[in-house]
Amino acid sequence: MTRRHHLFTLATLAAGVLALASGAARAEDSVKIGVILPMTGPSASTGRQIDAAIKLWLAQSGGKAGGKKVEVLIKDDAGVADTTRRLAQELVVNDKVVALAGFGLTPLALATAPIATQSKTPMVVMAAATSIITEASPFIVRTSFTLPQVSIGIAEWAAKNKIRKVVTLVADYGPGNDAEKFFSSQFQLNGGTVAEKLRTPLRSPDFAPVLQKVRDAAPDALFVFLPSGQGAQFMKQFGERGLDKAGIKLIATGDVTDDDQLNDMGDVALGVVNSHHYSAAHNSPANKKFVADFQAAAKFRPNFMAVGGYDGMRVIFKALDATKGAGGEPLLAAMKGQLFESPRGPVLIDAQTRDIVQDVYIRKVERVNGQLYNVEFDTLKAVKDPGKLK
Ligand code: DHB
Repeated sequence: MTRRHHLFTLATLAAGVLALASGAARAEDSVKIGVILPMTGPSASTGRQIDAAIKLWLAQSGGKAGGKKVEVLIKDDAGVADTTRRLAQELVVNDKVVALAGFGLTPLALATAPIATQSKTPMVVMAAATSIITEASPFIVRTSFTLPQVSIGIAEWAAKNKIRKVVTLVADYGPGNDAEKFFSSQFQLNGGTVAEKLRTPLRSPDFAPVLQKVRDAAPDALFVFLPSGQGAQFMKQFGERGLDKAGIKLIATGDVTDDDQLNDMGDVALGVVNSHHYSAAHNSPANKKFVADFQAAAKFRPNFMAVGGYDGMRVIFKALDATKGAGGEPLLAAMKGQLFESPRGPVLIDAQTRDIVQDVYIRKVERVNGQLYNVEFDTLKAVKDPGKLK
C-alpha cells in the first residue's frame, strides 16, 4: 500500500465516522415517552384528566429535558389490559420510548409490569393505586397514591367521631380489597365494629341491591371506595334511597368525592367526610397556580388523577435532566429519591419502595363560593404506603 493510498483510506473513514456521528446526534436530539391511558370506555375521565395535565406540563416546561426535545406519544387502551400490554410492547420495541407512563386501572398496570422488567424501561404509574403494583416490577415508580395510604386516616377519624358500627362498600378488585382491609383493621383497632363488607363489580355496578343491605344493617356510617368516575352515580342513588335521611353517615376515600364530578353531585354530597391526598381546594400557592393554569387550558377542574399525571411528568423530566436524556437503569435511579412540592403538598419518591410518600388530608365536602369542594381540615404528615409495612 502506498502512503498516499493509506491517507486516502483514513480520510474516507474519518468522513464516514463524522457522517455517522452527526446522524446519530440528530436521532438523539429527542427522546420519546409512551403514555397509555383509558381515553375511551368507563374510565375515560381518568384519561381526559391525565392527558390535560401532561399537556399543561409540556407547555410549562417547553417540552425539553436533559437538553433534548421530549416527544410524548399518548395511546388509548380503553381500559382493556390486553390492549395496554400490546401498546406497551409496541412503544418499547418500535418507538424505543425511554419511559412508559399512565395506567388508569390496577389490572392495566399489572399487565404491563413484565414488559417494563424485561426491557428495563422505567414505568411511571400515574393513576392505579393498589399497594402491590410497585412490587410487580423493579422498574415501576408511582406518582398516584395507594388505597391503604388513604383509607387509614378516615378509619381513625370515624372511630374518634362517635361512629361505632360501619358497613363497608368497595369495588370488587385490587384497590377495593386494599381499602376494605386497611379501613376495617384500623377501625377495629380503634374499637369500632364492621357489621358487613359489601362489594360491587368494577364494570357496570348496580348500587340498588347493596344500598338496600346497608339500610337493613342500619350502621352509624357507610364507608365507600369506588374508582374515579363512579362517585356521582353512587351518590345519586344514596340520596334517592334516602340513606342520608335515615341517619346513615357517608364516609369515603376521596375517589368517591372526586373533583372531576363533585360539583355536579348536589346537596347529597354536602358534609361527606373523606380522606385523600389531593383536593383542588388545597390551600397552597403551588396548588392555586396549578388549578388556575389547568382550568385556563383545559376548561375543567383538575382532580387527583391530573395531579398524578402532572407529577409523573415532573419525575420523568427531572430524571432525564439528570441522565442527559439516557433511559434504562440510570433513568430509574434518577427517579428514586426525588423530593419536591407537588400541587398536593410535599412528596417523596421513596428510593427503597419506589412508591410515593405524601400527606393525607381529612376533608369535608362544603360549598365554597357556590361550588362544591373537599375542604381539608386535618393532615396526616408524610404517610408511607402501609401496605408495605407488613
Ligand atoms: C384505581 C382506579 C381509580 O380510578 C381510583 O380512583 C383508584 C384506584 C385502580 O384501578 O387502581
